[in-house]
Amino acid sequence: MRVLVVYGTTEGQTRKIAERIAARVGDLGHEATLLDASAAGPGDDPAAFDLAILAGSVHVGRYQAPLVDYARRHAAALNASASAFVSVSLSAAGDDPEDWAGLARCVEGFRHETGWRAPRLHHAAGAFRFTRYDFLKSWAMRYVAYRRGEHVQAGADREYTDWDALDAFVEETLAAAAPGA
Ligand SMILES: Cc1cc2nc3c(=O)[nH]c(=O)nc-3n(C[C@H](O)[C@H](O)[C@H](O)COP(=O)(O)O)c2cc1C
Repeated sequence: MRVLVVYGTTEGQTRKIAERIAARVGDLGHEATLLDASAAGPGDDPAAFDLAILAGSVHVGRYQAPLVDYARRHAAALNASASAFVSVSLSAAGDDPEDWAGLARCVEGFRHETGWRAPRLHHAAGAFRFTRYDFLKSWAMRYVAYRRGEHVQAGADREYTDWDALDAFVEETLAAAAPGA
């Protein structure tokens, strides 16, 4: 199958996740095309693929604007074929019911904004990327870490992504999209 993997990222973790998805797709014998939503052109139409997997990360309750734009522009094609959404966040690293309710609202807002109703959804835990933050962001994210009871070191990244769970989601998504499935 031809699989399109489109991502939005701010600090790079979702790019890493999208690269892993594309690598897993390739390992399983399919052809993956990786696309940064901010570089998408008129030819990057999901209608030309058998499956589209979109991934974006939550920043203050929203996904990256270029990803939202891409999903909105191509909602009809995405709704017409096999597709999946990977939502990356720090809330998904924990089990706080309020955080998870917040994530559900983010996904619902994304669906409402874009008109794309992804039939498959995976929540991936993201990362603290202190090596990418400016002073203000670093300060704010250290406070977030403190509130979550996490001990982070200034200038050091901390990754929570469960790579095995992501691989399993990719495998299940490919199986569900296979002809005759
Ligand atoms: C400024 C900022 C705001 C964030 N807001 C949220 C949020 O509202 N909810 C959440 O669960 N995670 C939030 N996060 C965590 C990110 O989703 C997480 O760090 C993710 O790995 C970022 O992915 P990226 O590196 O692809 O941009 C925020 C991170 C930053 C830096």
